[in-house]
Amino acid sequence: VLDIRKLYAQGDVFTYDPGFTSTAACESAITFIDGDKGELLHRGYPIDQLAGKSHYLEVCYLLLYGELPTADQLEEFETTVTRHTMLHEQMQYFFRGFRRDAHPMAVMVGVVGAMAAFYHDSTDITDPWQREVASFRLIAKMPTIAAWAYKYSIGQPFVYPRNDLDYASNFLHMCFAVPAEEYKVDPILARAMDRIFTLHADHEQNASTSTVRLASSSGANPFACIAAGIACLWGPAHGGANQAALETLKEIGSVDRIPEYIERAKDKNDPFRLMGFGHRVYKNFDPRATVMKQSADEVLDLLGIEDNPILQVAKELEKQATADQYFIDRKLFPNVDFYSGIILEAMGFPTSMFTPIFALARTVGWISQWKEQISDPALKIGRPRQLYTGAAKRDYVDIENR
Ligand code: ACO
Repeated sequence: VLDIRKLYAQGDVFTYDPGFTSTAACESAITFIDGDKGELLHRGYPIDQLAGKSHYLEVCYLLLYGELPTADQLEEFETTVTRHTMLHEQMQYFFRGFRRDAHPMAVMVGVVGAMAAFYHDSTDITDPWQREVASFRLIAKMPTIAAWAYKYSIGQPFVYPRNDLDYASNFLHMCFAVPAEEYKVDPILARAMDRIFTLHADHEQNASTSTVRLASSSGANPFACIAAGIACLWGPAHGGANQAALETLKEIGSVDRIPEYIERAKDKNDPFRLMGFGHRVYKNFDPRATVMKQSADEVLDLLGIEDNPILQVAKELEKQATADQYFIDRKLFPNVDFYSGIILEAMGFPTSMFTPIFALARTVGWISQWKEQISDPALKIGRPRQLYTGAAKRDYVDIENR
């Protein structure tokens, strides 16, 4: 029997695997996905049970520490997160340096990266206490950063966190409260928000998580690593898909135009893709999409938005696309982003906030993976190889002879 690890360590195996479709880059005990069965487990617990019975901060604890917390542990964890929700007052100046119409993701990449300058007492990754503080700071401050990026983009004053509110309610408060007007968070919307956070909390070695791990493999500080993850998440093939999916649904506009768009998605000469469809790992269904679809129905129902045309288009598109041979052959199903945009829009978020919300929810996944990686004594710097396709060795030609 070949000891594959030994062969790799000796450098006797060389694989060419663009897109890492069949290469494991690490060992991990955090999240398990069975793409054929449409199964997603965090520390062994199925995502539908966590989304139905648990809540985001409890799932954060589970991802970070490996077990569900006791009541005391949960209380202590929530209290600690709550204590860290404020941003250093000086950081406001940093926000104000951006153009007023900057995309909130651009602001988040910059602000989170800059946290290393504002909180340099938690950048030493060799110190377990500093690692822990950095984790709490990131999880606690990310909603404040996302909400402030939003407020700044619409020209409204920043709203400070309210520590008497739960994590999701506090985020909604910071996004939608305005001075001199009373804003009461609807508990049903807060629950839906919390569920969106839970469904996005972690997803093993996706592009942004792998980016965080690669950045961290060099010993970079946690804020730099998470900023790298946010930058990667922004792309339309990854976290940016939730914004793109809703924009596609709006562009389709009515049920009768669906066949035209399905034909476009199938046309290899047209770069158009049905955003919100397809997944690298799920080849049957995305279990998060099932919960998200239910949630979309509930939220629209509760808000009294009946017969929402976009939801109608989404449901009919799902029906027609999943019955089409092109989509069947390629195992393309709606992913988590297909329905999340509908809920977020119904809550009052502009499309530009969809990916920042994904980023804030995924922060705990990135941190859990980062902590797992740097706790590994055998950690090696990530250094992919390449197949060189450039010019063969040749002699330098002086400029007058070129
Ligand atoms: N619409 C139309 N065709 C598609 C779509 C789509 N959304 N997704 C994949 N395909 C086709 C490809 O054209 C390709 O066809 P071919 O074999 O005839 O060339 C085949 O399906 C396989 O597609 P790949 O791009 O090779 O699959 P990959 O695993 O690399 O990509 C991805 C997965 C990026 C998610 C892709 O399905 C996609 O671009 N989807 C739309 C964007 C999206 O929704 N992203 C969110 C992902 S989930 C998340 O990040 C939370």
